[in-house]
This record gives sequence, C-alpha cells and structure tokens, in this order.
Amino acid sequence: MGMQRDTSVDTVLTGITTTGTPHIGNYVGAIRPAVIASHNSSATSFYFLADYHSLVKSGDPAKVATSTLEIAASWIASGLSPEATLYRQSDVPEIMELAWILTCMTAKGLMNRAHAYKAAIADNEASGNKDPDKGINMGLFCYPVLMAADILMFKANKVPVGKDQIQHVEMARDIAGRFNHHYGETFILPEAVVSQNAAVLPGLDGRKMSKSYGNTIPLFSEEKALRKMIMKIKTNSQEPGDPKDPDISSLFSIYRAFSSEEESLLIRQQYLEGIGWGEMKKTLFEYLNEKLKEPRKEYKRLMSEPDYVESLLQQGASKARGVSQPFIGEIRAAVGLRSLC
Ligand code: TRP
Repeated sequence: MGMQRDTSVDTVLTGITTTGTPHIGNYVGAIRPAVIASHNSSATSFYFLADYHSLVKSGDPAKVATSTLEIAASWIASGLSPEATLYRQSDVPEIMELAWILTCMTAKGLMNRAHAYKAAIADNEASGNKDPDKGINMGLFCYPVLMAADILMFKANKVPVGKDQIQHVEMARDIAGRFNHHYGETFILPEAVVSQNAAVLPGLDGRKMSKSYGNTIPLFSEEKALRKMIMKIKTNSQEPGDPKDPDISSLFSIYRAFSSEEESLLIRQQYLEGIGWGEMKKTLFEYLNEKLKEPRKEYKRLMSEPDYVESLLQQGASKARGVSQPFIGEIRAAVGLRSLC
C-alpha cells in the first residue's frame, strides 16, 4: 500500500521555483542546508526544480529555461550528493495527474485562506481596484494543491522550507488527511522543517536580500562583478579608527554566514578596533571570492554543458518516476480510475 514507508529513514523533499538566478542569500538559507542534508545517510532526499510553479508568475519562456539550468547547476556545483534525486517537476507527469485528483479533494475555502492569495487580494483592495481578483490566475489560487502533489507523490515526511511556506505544507497535510479519510490510508502526512538558524542575509541596501528588492549578490558572480557589488554594500559614516558595532553591519552578517565561528570572532575584534569600511569590504571580498572560486569554476563548466546537466536531470526524473509511476497506479485505483477487468 501507498501508506507504507521505511520509518527508519526520513524522506526529505523540497522544491525550488525556477524564477531567477540563485544569490548568496538562497545559498546560505536553502542550498547549503540542503546540500548538507543530502549527504545524510539516514535520509532519502528529493530535490526538484519547480518549473510548473514558475508559470504562475512568469510569462517569459526564456527566463524559465535559463533559471532551470542556473538552479540545477548551482545545486550540483555546491556539492549536492549524487545519491539525492534531483529532477525537474515537469519531467514527472504523475505529479500533474495527482494535482488534479487532489484538487477534487480540496475545499475551495481552504484555498481562500492561503496567505499568498490573500495578499494578492489585499494588494488589489489597497490600490482601489474594483475587482479584488484582478491579475490573479488560477495557478496562484491552486498553487498549494500542486505543492501538495509534489510532496505527497514521494511520501515525504520532512519538508524543509522557509517560514513563508509553512502554511502550504500544512495544507498538504490537510489535503492528505482528507483523502486518506475518504479513500483509505494512502498518503504520508508531511511536516514542515524550518531551520531556526538558517541565516537571513542582508542585501546591498541593508534590507533582506531578495530578488524582489533587486539587492542581491548572485552566488556565482564573476570575480570582478563580485568585488564591485561588495564595494556597493551600504555602510554608515563612521571613519576608520572608530570602533564599530559588528551586529548592525551587513558586511559582518555576510562574512559570518560563510565563516567559521573562530574566523568571525577575529573580525568582530577588528570591528571593535576600528577597521575601516574600505578595508572590511576588501576583507569580505577576498574571503568570499576564495570560498566561491572552486564551485564557481564548476558552475561555469556546467553552464557551458547544458547537455550534461540535462542528462543528470533525466537520470533524476527516471529515479523519481520509479516511485511516482507505481504509486499513481495505486492512487488511481483508490479513486476508482481502474481497469474494468
Ligand atoms: N513553493 C515553494 C517556494 O516558493 C517551492 C515549492 C514548490 C516547494 N513545491 C514544493 C517547496 C514542495 C517544498 C515542497 O519556495
């Protein structure tokens, strides 16, 4: 039965929407923890490129395709274990099939309560639009159902996500419970895993690093571009020689997110001793550049060999379908979509 899974190992699954170029905030918040987890032998891990999800916002085919390659290359270059299953959502059609089956088990009222949908409505109301649903497509509305299909298809019990996605994982749990109650035990109820100590990085302007603020440092920027961006990071008007507070400094936050505890203590000391902003920027650039040099090389190699990345994704998809094909058969049978004889 679908319900059974080996409970001595966790099944960890997470998705990344293919809407942009990974930045160092994504790296410390999501990529690095997932890469570490992928090497944990007591868990089976699934990481996928949520390209269907990207269609909710993007109308730009080239951007989706480029982002897919960039994100896959970033994960691989950052050291994702070859044991982990890395695949593209749209290469696993069973997910889409399950999404419809789950749609029919999902209360519309549940979707009305989704934060992302409610925020879109609130924006329309705030800007005085007569139609509160203006610009909202059904993809946005049904987004949590597709996400539930992603998770339930692979019987994941642990789903690492950012805080903004907790509600979606809870909805997946709700939907799974409702299905199990109606059709019999079929799905594993997933749980969100929110890393408490995942660093949130400040961006160039001091606000949270985010694509929507346009203040990011792309993870694998070329050396020159990386230097230029670090030189642009906002500081205050304190002079060299003035003692400075590391805990309110973006430069320090970024440094610390990449360094060991001992290294960051040394820099902390330099702040108290009045290191100048120019000097600190140089230190940060050199430090980051050193850390990123090797993975950047690998990233560039992968970006220049899309055929190779594609072949890895195809291997991932066939591994994933090894799970999803038999399981969708059970699910179809459970809801009555079955052969007559
Ligand atoms: N919605 C997630 C995000 O924007 C991406 C995602 C899609 C996802 N499907 C998922 C995350 C399934 C975890 C599990 O970050």
